[in-house]
Amino acid sequence: IQAEKGGYKHFMLKEIFEQPRAVRDTTLGRISLNTGTVFLSEMKISDEEFRDAPRIDIAACGTSWHAALAGKYMIERLARIPVEVDYASEFRYRDPIIDSRSIGMLITQSGETADTLAAQREMLAKGLKTIAICNVVGAMVAREAHGTIYTHAGPEIGVASTKAFSSQLTALFLFALYLAQTRNTITGDESIALVEALTRLPGKIEEVLRTADLACEKLARVYSTARDFLYLGRGIHYPIALEGALKLKEISYIHAEGYPAGEMKHGPNALIDGTLPVVVLATKDGANHGSRLRYEKTLSNIQEVTARSGKVIAIATEGDEQIGDLVDQVIYIPQAPELLLPLLDVVPLQLLAYHIAVRRGCDVDQPRNLAKSVTVE
Ligand code: G6P
Repeated sequence: IQAEKGGYKHFMLKEIFEQPRAVRDTTLGRISLNTGTVFLSEMKISDEEFRDAPRIDIAACGTSWHAALAGKYMIERLARIPVEVDYASEFRYRDPIIDSRSIGMLITQSGETADTLAAQREMLAKGLKTIAICNVVGAMVAREAHGTIYTHAGPEIGVASTKAFSSQLTALFLFALYLAQTRNTITGDESIALVEALTRLPGKIEEVLRTADLACEKLARVYSTARDFLYLGRGIHYPIALEGALKLKEISYIHAEGYPAGEMKHGPNALIDGTLPVVVLATKDGANHGSRLRYEKTLSNIQEVTARSGKVIAIATEGDEQIGDLVDQVIYIPQAPELLLPLLDVVPLQLLAYHIAVRRGCDVDQPRNLAKSVTVE
């Protein structure tokens, strides 16, 4: 077992460090750098069907559901098609209103989660074609799907999902770009720029791993005894805040919540006191107007927390000289286009949860009461 961990203390840490490769492997053979074209040859859904689809309906559970929420931002932004995201366990019982020309999507690392398979059956029964994003080749979900985008992240052993999540985000980004190209909602130059940015991402994740590991270990020394944590983000970073909170809950048993930063004033502000650590995703894509606006709004949310003496840990972009003075600790990540930033900001959140759990003496790879795949309802 020690050998399988490749020198790492836990599978989870090994898998966090495997993310550059996982992301690269997900893109392998699916992109052309010269033309910016995305190839998803595994689709048994025609271009016409993609053009006519009024909506994409996604169902998933746990971490895969967070990937789905981030995917909604990617698909809506690039392909201008509405996306609805459901918990698989809710989808199957809420008698959803479905247009049979819509495309169904299931996101599942294992491909065997009972609720997700049931949601797929529900979609098929309502006449939808379904696409699976799945990590395990030949899994149940793939057998029923009209196309599977395998994530190729390699086996994930740690119960808390890390590299599978990054590769799901990558697959969703590829799918969003593919759809945008099919539906003509993106120019050739934009495609080339985004594909190029995607290929640079593994190197940037490596950079985050190099710097954030030690930084998060230090943070863990300060915050491992906290009783609660808040994670805040706006836009596509909101699902990442949810994922950061889930990682901490799963492996350290500390209560944590993810919130859209703008919602603080409608409740969570009441929780803030001098003992509450608040992790804020405050990155920005300087070239993107929406992203800069989101950043400005996030800064005011940070001030709302510090004014109530909450402790702020910010994840910010390299070169941001403003934020250091406003918060207690900052972890910097490299620059990237807005839709790809989640693949960088999630890494310090995974490492923070990991180091806190280790300090608390928790069983990181096999947290109590949880299973890697939940094949019963
Ligand atoms: C379990 C695992 C989670 C995972 C979820 C969905 O709860 O502990 O890590 O996100 O199932 O699993 P799936 O295989 O469908 O992605």
